Amino acid sequence: MKEKKDVLILAIESSCDETAAAVVKNGREVLSNVISSQIELHKLYGGVVPEIASRKHIEKINQVIEEALKEADIKLDDCDAIGVTYGPGLVGALLVGVAEAKAIAYAKDLPLVGVHHIEGHISANYIENKELKPPFICLVVSGGHTHLVCVKDYGEYEIIGRTRDDAAGEAFDKVARAIGLGYPGGPKIDKLSKEGNADAIAFPKAHVEDGPYDFSFSGVKSSVLNYINGCKMKGDDYSCADIAASFQKAVTEVLVENAMRAVKEYGMDKLAIAGGVASNSTLRAAMEKACEENNIRFFHPSPIYCTDNAAMIGVAAYYEYEKGVRHGWDLNAVPNLKLGER
Ligand code: KG4
Ligand code: ZN
Repeated sequence: MKEKKDVLILAIESSCDETAAAVVKNGREVLSNVISSQIELHKLYGGVVPEIASRKHIEKINQVIEEALKEADIKLDDCDAIGVTYGPGLVGALLVGVAEAKAIAYAKDLPLVGVHHIEGHISANYIENKELKPPFICLVVSGGHTHLVCVKDYGEYEIIGRTRDDAAGEAFDKVARAIGLGYPGGPKIDKLSKEGNADAIAFPKAHVEDGPYDFSFSGVKSSVLNYINGCKMKGDDYSCADIAASFQKAVTEVLVENAMRAVKEYGMDKLAIAGGVASNSTLRAAMEKACEENNIRFFHPSPIYCTDNAAMIGVAAYYEYEKGVRHGWDLNAVPNLKLGER
């Protein structure tokens, strides 16, 4: 019997400050994953400057795609489809990837599959956890989003909780700036907190009264800023490592509590995490422990697949492609695209 042909997808991601391309085979095997980060450039300004991001994407995208094809040892003609992030994200940045994907798909007469960035983050879990299949609960914690998602099936999502204000990564970045760590702050707080005492300062845990699965991080962020100002006014010394560790503990505890509540109440036995903040070592350890205590299987991608990359977009595009999703030449960047919309 003829074996089912392998499906090779060339995926492109340019929604924020990484220009990325990858080749993914059959939705689970990453043949290449090339990322050109603009972090060094944006560091100068303390955050991502949209106009600079778009310009850099234009400069890098062809080179990144060429490298991805070379590393995977394939040609464009070997691809079965082109996957691309078309939202949410910075509109100018997204447009570069979308225009590139459309041009390649048109020139090579290949199907075009637009992907939701968060669907990509969630799908990153399928790369190294071959046995992971829906349904499961996924906590998505990135620089722009904090969502608790019930993954009902491939491509089928129900958002059950979200942040009411700042995203988790945004809170990490703002607190990092306040203690002079620079951008992006998440990894720096992660590192510095290892030298600090997480019980030194009792920052508030941000529970939302009327939303058991919702989050709010602006309160804890303000309380860190107030604490620093208070110390300065009194002329007291303060420890940046203690602030980092205590802040991280307050955020982590809420993320773990809400995620565990969702898993139990939805009758699930699997929990996954995704997004840049999912590479946080304290969050990973706390989730692992809570899952073990509650007999829940815990899944997470390696750090390289947590932060923005195109491999995750290739995985998501594969499952959309298999479902028959095809986008036309009118595919546009949608900066506020909702999860589950096509
Ligand atoms: O998923 P991502 O690369 O981009 C978005 O889609 O937003 O996430 C970037 C965010 C940044 O806010 C960064 O500070 C945070 O993820 N981050 C971390 C860690 N690594 C990245 N936050 C906490 N701990 C980390 N180790
Ligand atoms: Zn992202």
